[in-house]
Parts: sequence; C-alpha cells; structure tokens
Amino acid sequence: MQSFRHGEINEFIQWHDTDGNIINASDGGIIFADGKYHWYGQALRPLPEARGPEGGQKTDVGVVMYESEDLLNWKYEGVILATNDDPESELCGPMRFERPKIIYNDKTGKYVLWCHYVKYPGDHGSLPGMAEAGIAVCDTVNGKYEWVGTLRPLDGAPVKDSSLYKDFDGSAYFIYDRCAPGDRCIHVVKLSDDYLSCSETYSRIEAAAWREAPAVVFCDGYYYIVTSALTGWQTNQAQAFRTRHLLDQWEDIGDPCIDDDSHTTFNTQSTYAFPIEGRNEEYIVMFERHNTSNFLECSYVWLKPEITADKKICFHYQKEWKL
Ligand code: GAL
Repeated sequence: MQSFRHGEINEFIQWHDTDGNIINASDGGIIFADGKYHWYGQALRPLPEARGPEGGQKTDVGVVMYESEDLLNWKYEGVILATNDDPESELCGPMRFERPKIIYNDKTGKYVLWCHYVKYPGDHGSLPGMAEAGIAVCDTVNGKYEWVGTLRPLDGAPVKDSSLYKDFDGSAYFIYDRCAPGDRCIHVVKLSDDYLSCSETYSRIEAAAWREAPAVVFCDGYYYIVTSALTGWQTNQAQAFRTRHLLDQWEDIGDPCIDDDSHTTFNTQSTYAFPIEGRNEEYIVMFERHNTSNFLECSYVWLKPEITADKKICFHYQKEWKL
C-alpha cells in the first residue's frame, strides 16, 4: 500500500498490517513517539459477532496498537489495554473502550489514555457504567496500560463520545459529549496537571448541541473541532466549530466537506486529527466509514484539511493520495 486508498464514497476498502491482517483499530488515534507513529484503537470483534449493528463494535480484546515510520506500512504491536473475563472487573469483555485517545504528559513522563467507557456487556446507556470517561496510564507509548478507573467530569452528567487534545503550553483537554437529560452539547474540560482527572475549568460549545465524534485541529491561530450528528453508525453531515482560545466562545462554521452532495461527510464519521511529523501545522484528519454488516470491514479515510481564506477548515474527498 503506497498511498492512502479510499475508493468511491460507497466503497469499503480495507487496510492491512505488515502481516496481511486487516488493521482493526476502531475510532482511535495516532501518536508520534520514539521516532515512529503509533496507531491505536479498539479491536472490534470478529465473525460471527462482527455481523449486525449490535455486536461487532464491542471488544473482548481491548485497545491495540500498530507502529509505522511512513504512515503506510503498519506493524502490529499488540494489545496495550486488555479486557479480561473477570465479572468483578471493570475490564470484563465484551465491553467498549470507545474512541480511545492517548497523549503524553511531559511533567509525569507518562502516556495517558482516555476513552468513552461502557462496561460489560457493552450496551450504551446513561446509567452508571454505561456512559463514563475511562482512564489508563503507561510509562511507555506501547506498553501495557494500567487501568486508573472511570469518572464523569463537571456535574457528573453521562459521558458519550470523547477525545483528548494537548495544547502548546502542555495543558490538556477532555472533549466530550456531555449528555445531561435535555441539555446535551460538546464540552471542553481542562485536565489536571497529571492528566488523570478533570478540573472545573471548561468551555461549552453551545452550537455543538447533539453532536459527537469530535476531532481537533489547530491551524493558523484557530482551534477547529469537526463533529458528526447523532445517528449512531449511520453517516450524517459534518459540522465544524472554531475558536481562538479553547476556553472561549466557539463559532459554528458549518459543514467543512466540499462538494459532498450526499451530505454524509463523504459517507464517513470523524475520528481524530494528528500532526504530520516535521511539517508545520499540517495534519491528517482520520475518518471512518462504518460497515455495520461486518464491523471488521470498515474503511479508514484520511484527508488533509485545508484552511480557506476566511479561516474555515475544509476537506476535499480523494479516492487515493500520497503524502
Ligand atoms: C456513533 C459514535 C460511536 C458509537 C456509535 C454507536 O455515532 O460515534 O462512537 O457510539 O455511535 O451507535
């Protein structure tokens, strides 16, 4: 695979690791560490569970990681946060580590993972255990992450889709769909210095009501968040927001997908954005084309964002491209 291949917008194209296996890292992210990119995500379940809308998207493996020097050839590194079969454990599978994200804490020297945690049997909801922030920590990027536990930021409202963002000054933010009854929008909450808990400092993206799948990009003085609507695994129209300061007011800047006549984010959902190493403010935004008839045959769609003259983030679909 020498270029990022996406195919037509109604096609599912699988990417494979260097052993020839499908890369199974759902809704995760990429971190550059120790001279390599590390791609991690939740390992979805194989057949027969992988078939059908309620089954394959849970995990009884955990969060897995792959490494690459060129973003094209990915070597499987193994399970970094494992489920188990102990009914007393918070990690009993099948469960979900949805949308796991990893950042490095310069002060503690630890890698910190946050996710939207859903305990066994992995069914979404709002009751305790079904909508939490889950946290794990590790001394190395690709070691075995130690489970810290779960929490709900701010006032304890349920947590749905989430992400992490580390800012230039080393402060970090948990970005999540705060799902309080009748009051649901994306919140950006500053983490504690060790990144293991939330502070009380936050901004509310009022215009991002009933949005999820947040992916953050910083470019030319603006922070952008790309989101999806709430239609589960069915695709929908993307919507982006921007601000000059993470804890300030956010502005709705509409659908960033150019010529997307289907209004479906090119038949994908946003996942995460990561900077390309060695380049100035150049990112790849990861999207996923979910295949609900077999979650192991989803597609990864990676696009480079562009910033328009009026400082809006936008994306052009490309069936295939090279870095
Ligand atoms: C998606 C969400 C996923 C997962 C899914 C389940 O929209 O982004 O993380 O929760 O719904 O239906």
